[in-house]
Amino acid sequence: SARLKSDVLGKNIVYEESVKSTQEIAQKLSYEQKPEGTLVVADEQTGGRGRLGRPWQSPKGTGIWMSLILRPEIPLQKTPQLTLLAAVSVTKAIYKVTGLHAEIKWPNDILINGKKTVGILTELQAESDRVHAVIIGIGLNVNVTVEDFNEDVRKIATSLKIESGNETKRADLIAAILEEIEVLYREYLNKGFGLIKLLWEGYAHSIGRRIKVRTASQQLEGVAKGITDEGILLLEDDNGKVHSIYSADIEIPGT
Ligand code: BTN
Repeated sequence: SARLKSDVLGKNIVYEESVKSTQEIAQKLSYEQKPEGTLVVADEQTGGRGRLGRPWQSPKGTGIWMSLILRPEIPLQKTPQLTLLAAVSVTKAIYKVTGLHAEIKWPNDILINGKKTVGILTELQAESDRVHAVIIGIGLNVNVTVEDFNEDVRKIATSLKIESGNETKRADLIAAILEEIEVLYREYLNKGFGLIKLLWEGYAHSIGRRIKVRTASQQLEGVAKGITDEGILLLEDDNGKVHSIYSADIEIPGT
């Protein structure tokens, strides 16, 4: 059985068997009900949501569907750093618990053998420039089987069980994720984003590779050079011009 070794994260846990979305539950909790480190976790989501308004399939009992609430005193524009921090932490936890090597695809997908295993959706509660709560939603396909995925998702998604052949206890992995996030979050609050940026680039699948980027306004192609201190992706096009990508979908040819 899992023993929670984190001090602050996961001390307050809101567990539900079935919810529409843990993000929604986290949002609706009052500030008194969600001190820093509060974790909302569900066995099943009936309306799990992904980035860019997409749905997120969350079948019962086979995945980790959770939302972690952080209450850092940081300016609004720094909050994307926490998404990257979470991605690094989940990647490390997956390796520790299963031995599987995962890679991060900017901004926050985690892939194993080129297929998506984890999605992260960060939502904010803020007033003018003051951050009240950062809600980091993590969807992790743990023991999900091929049959659980619909036809479209099957081509692009995978799970720890599909990749390793073994079942993983969800509680062990949740404990490991919270521990990793806690260590890096402390480092982040004390010393800033430096180490996390370095770790992120180390796990990143796309850095140094040719990618295609589709933003709301344009389509670009070039080499991903790295990320900035704010977590913005830098893309160098074939004319040598460097573009800052704030939000987009990226395609990696050959995956
Ligand atoms: C993505 O890759 O598009 C992000 C997916 C995020 C899914 C998680 S599951 C727990 C939390 N609750 C939700 O409704 N979404 C996030």
